[in-house]
Amino acid sequence: MNTWLQILKLAHILGFVFMSTPLFNLLLVNERAALKAPQAYLPLRYMENIIGRNAKRCYVFQLTVLISGLGLVLYTGPGLKLIFTEWVIGLKTLILFLMTGLLSYVHFGIQLKIENLLAEVNSDSVPEEILTKLKPLQGRRKKLASFCLFLVLVAIILGVQVYSHFPISITFILIALSALFTWRAFKSLMSYGWI
Ligand code: HEM
Repeated sequence: MNTWLQILKLAHILGFVFMSTPLFNLLLVNERAALKAPQAYLPLRYMENIIGRNAKRCYVFQLTVLISGLGLVLYTGPGLKLIFTEWVIGLKTLILFLMTGLLSYVHFGIQLKIENLLAEVNSDSVPEEILTKLKPLQGRRKKLASFCLFLVLVAIILGVQVYSHFPISITFILIALSALFTWRAFKSLMSYGWI
């Protein structure tokens, strides 16, 4: 394999590793909930700054995965038609576009509304009426982040099967385990990594 191809593959791997943002956003949200101080403004502002900026970072990593993926297809296979003829690559491409769509909905829809609400806060404590409006938005964003995490995991499971497929039963078991992992990330602090 030539060096450029290996560098493309490295960019592809780094891109999807850094697309683990939904996992760390979920853990961040769960850490703040564990503080049991829902009205404290500073931890909320700190968390929202990180989540807001992570969205922009995630666009860059998604683009890295797309460009390097297309490069790999062009270099190694019979060209772009592989996206339509090889279901693993086709599905990974669809998943990536779906994730960009979800990210855009969260960033330009939900996050903007959250920012507008937080702009109304002018003390160290978030007023109850703003909290009541914030909670459903944060709840929806958390569910979407979990779905995105699940999609990243599925795409990685497919990614390692580009040229040689696992038995389909193993693929389904791994996808079920991904759903379980996502559920844990949604619900807990996952203090021991996997659990
Ligand atoms: C969510 C998006 C994606 C994820 C998480 C992902 C993940 C992966 C993973 C885990 C591998 C295996 C790397 C290895 O063997 O070391 C891989 C390889 C590959 N991916 Fe992706 N991928 C994504 C999107 C794409 C897209 C959009 C394309 C092309 C249109 C693509 C094309 C390829 C190709 C051709 C390989 C094989 C590289 C090789 O073994 O030489 N991927 N991907």
